[in-house]
Amino acid sequence: MAAPPATVLFLLLLFPAAVFPNAEENFDVRRHLSTATRYHIAKDISENSFVPSNIPDQCTPIHLNLVARHGTRAPTKKKLKELEALVSRLKVLLENVKEQKSTGIPTWLWGWKSPWTGKHKGGELIREGENELYELGIRTREQFPDLFNEDYHPDIYPIKATQVSRASASAVAFGMGLFSDRGNLGPGRHRAFAVTSESRASDIMLRFHDCCQNYKAFRKNQEPSVDKLKEPILNEVTQQLVKRWGLNFTRSDISSLWFLCKQEASLLNTTDQACALFTPSEVGLLEWADDLEVFVLKGYGNSLNYRMGVPLLEDVIQSMEQAIKAKEDGLVSGSYEMARLRFAHAETLLPFSCLIGLFLDGPEFEQILREQPLELPVKPPKKRIWRGSSVAPFAGNNMLVLYSCPANNSSRYFVQVLHNERPTPLAGCGNSDFCPFELFKERIAAPHLKHDYNALCSMELEQSKQTAPTNKFAQILSWFFPGDSKQPQNAEL
Ligand SMILES: *[C@@H]1O[C@H](CO)[C@@H](O)[C@H](O)[C@H]1NC(C)=O
Ligand SMILES: *[C@@H]1O[C@H](CO)[C@@H](O)[C@H](O)[C@H]1NC(C)=O
Ligand SMILES: *[C@@H]1O[C@H](CO)[C@@H](O)[C@H](O)[C@H]1NC(C)=O
Ligand SMILES: *[C@@H]1O[C@H](CO)[C@@H](O)[C@H](O)[C@H]1NC(C)=O
Repeated sequence: MAAPPATVLFLLLLFPAAVFPNAEENFDVRRHLSTATRYHIAKDISENSFVPSNIPDQCTPIHLNLVARHGTRAPTKKKLKELEALVSRLKVLLENVKEQKSTGIPTWLWGWKSPWTGKHKGGELIREGENELYELGIRTREQFPDLFNEDYHPDIYPIKATQVSRASASAVAFGMGLFSDRGNLGPGRHRAFAVTSESRASDIMLRFHDCCQNYKAFRKNQEPSVDKLKEPILNEVTQQLVKRWGLNFTRSDISSLWFLCKQEASLLNTTDQACALFTPSEVGLLEWADDLEVFVLKGYGNSLNYRMGVPLLEDVIQSMEQAIKAKEDGLVSGSYEMARLRFAHAETLLPFSCLIGLFLDGPEFEQILREQPLELPVKPPKKRIWRGSSVAPFAGNNMLVLYSCPANNSSRYFVQVLHNERPTPLAGCGNSDFCPFELFKERIAAPHLKHDYNALCSMELEQSKQTAPTNKFAQILSWFFPGDSKQPQNAEL
């Protein structure tokens, strides 16, 4: 008589996944949060078995370009509001249940309050995010001692951030790590360093998305079709959750709960509440929906998404050429730039990764060159290369390390791309992670650099060609008569 319960217990121990969906072996929801994934987790995700090049001993790094996304941040104000709305929604849903005396509903849902209730401002870099960048700074110096042994000078290690505080705070955290033990400030022997920012309205290097009128129009235009794209995925997950938990969730509830799961898991390391409402395969679907959106609006889905990043790519190439010239001219160390360090947003990192052709296979690279759109990332469980969790997690980054190699090789300079600190194959360079500089420049960068930012981004270009003289005149007039409201709308062109 005692046998059946013992067997059940035995089976439970053997197959916990059958009872607790999220306990599926090796499934860690924190690795599946698309662009809300934490850096230390993203860094360890390696889907492919790429074997990095052996960099010859004779080659030495002479310059480093960094493009990094800010670290883990608090939910933005808009998202805080969405979570408050979820509190009310859950109350309503549970109200119906109470009457039916239903059980089996996760206990945390009863009387749930947003952990951010009472928080009035959002979007800032949180402590965990500071740590991500601080440690990245320390590791970067350790990995490239030859590049970071110079005394700090803003011309040797320029640090640039956008005017958005989570990006500039990220720059500061990185610099504190990079230059720790090099100064005299406090027990950490910190060093003060400069972080410079362009004004938001004219930062075409790091906030090109915000300055590009055509892109803004494209995004607005795409929103309905992105929603359409995600709708069936959300519907599928919604139906399953309604069935499982006996609560009448709507698609928008599920979207908020998925957002809550991402915040709980990445900011609070809590995976047994909102995340536990979903099975691993449902998480996989929601992650894919996020990745599709990122692909369409910020990635390979449209060439404008990344082409508008040409000023940044130009800046990177130019800094490498300058470093090569300094080397060729035999300048003494301490007299030229060793690294250019940039701190920005997913909207910067994603396009930049596209511009250098990361996350592509060979044929896709050719498609990009022919200006053909790429296929959308495939539905799980099929594998895809394009994953937000790895392409642009919090503190995600690309380092382009320029190497000088011995003269007896056909190429003297090579570029190595580290994505999230891992050597990464370049489809445009025969899938090597160690690419002769000339090849990198001609085959990967040049096809993009022939495009002009202003031409790509100004919507009223055609119109302005005809009206430009009048506009110029109106602009000059407006300087003298600022009160004149008859100034044409597109005067700032
Ligand atoms: C959910 O909605 C359906 C119809 O839309 C209704 O029949 C059912 O009683 C509702 N269930 C709960 C728990 O509110
Ligand atoms: C997060 O939670 C996991 C268990 O789910 C634990 O192993 C890990 O140490 C926690 N991390 C932090 C930073 O608290
Ligand atoms: C030329 O390259 C070989 C390796 O291919 C190396 O062993 C040798 O030292 C190099 N010679 C010079 C002069 O750099
Ligand atoms: C010369 O360059 C090739 C890459 O084109 C590389 O595989 C090789 O190791 C390099 N040799 C030396 C000595 O730098």
